[in-house]
Amino acid sequence: MDNHSPIGVLDSGVGGLTVLKVLRALMPHEKFIYLGDTANTPFGVRSEEENRMLVGKMLDFMQAQGVKQVVIACNTLTMLDVNTLQPGRPFHIIGVSHVVALLRKYSKKKKIGIMATPFTINSEVHKKEIHSYEPEIQVFGQACPKLVPLIEARQFDGPEMEEAIREYTEPLKQAGVDIVALSCTHYPLIKNKIEKALGPEVIVLDPAGRTASNAHIQLHKMGMASHSGEGSLTICFTSDLERCKCLAKCLLPDEGCEYKLVKL
Ligand code: DGL
Repeated sequence: MDNHSPIGVLDSGVGGLTVLKVLRALMPHEKFIYLGDTANTPFGVRSEEENRMLVGKMLDFMQAQGVKQVVIACNTLTMLDVNTLQPGRPFHIIGVSHVVALLRKYSKKKKIGIMATPFTINSEVHKKEIHSYEPEIQVFGQACPKLVPLIEARQFDGPEMEEAIREYTEPLKQAGVDIVALSCTHYPLIKNKIEKALGPEVIVLDPAGRTASNAHIQLHKMGMASHSGEGSLTICFTSDLERCKCLAKCLLPDEGCEYKLVKL
């Protein structure tokens, strides 16, 4: 393994592509291997035991590719605590940023909303971290179980999506939050719809930028960043390659990108 080894990026499906896009812009000389476990999506309604088993297989896949770093571009898997996934792995693992510092900084009303999968909301990780700094902040977690299946099915514009967004944003509006974190990497794909539903007074925060810069900083600290040569991208899914390819192509127009169907 050396500076020119690839970086692995993983998620349950197409959501992690929203993080991959920022990673690529930030680190143009790196080779990226993306893995979306579409055969097992969604992760956000599974048990901890199932998610640990699934992420273990994905990390085995990345290990076989000789990666130098893995970015877990999935909040649900990040809730498992990346420190517990690290032992025995020759590469460094980093998860999605909880963006707690940004949420605290920008919430003037001290009322913060978190939109995420049921698994992430039930873990209460964001709430506990925010309260460890400022116990007086009110945190409203909103589980949004319908969103990932709709996004994976590319049902962006139907009445189901509209209804689901209304159902999940209404309680946050009622609570009077002034900032909402999109703590599921699928949700930035419908960020404009969520913003519209929440109204102009509410800031909608995508943790992708902070996550990508954390990954960049970590690589530099390890002396493993690549500063020369052409970057590349391989995108792997475990099922429905054609459907996923369409979504990936919209998000990451890149002629040089290679697509693969893989088995874990
Ligand atoms: N995109 C993922 C996340 O950030 C996983 C969603 C799911 O599979 O339920 O949580």
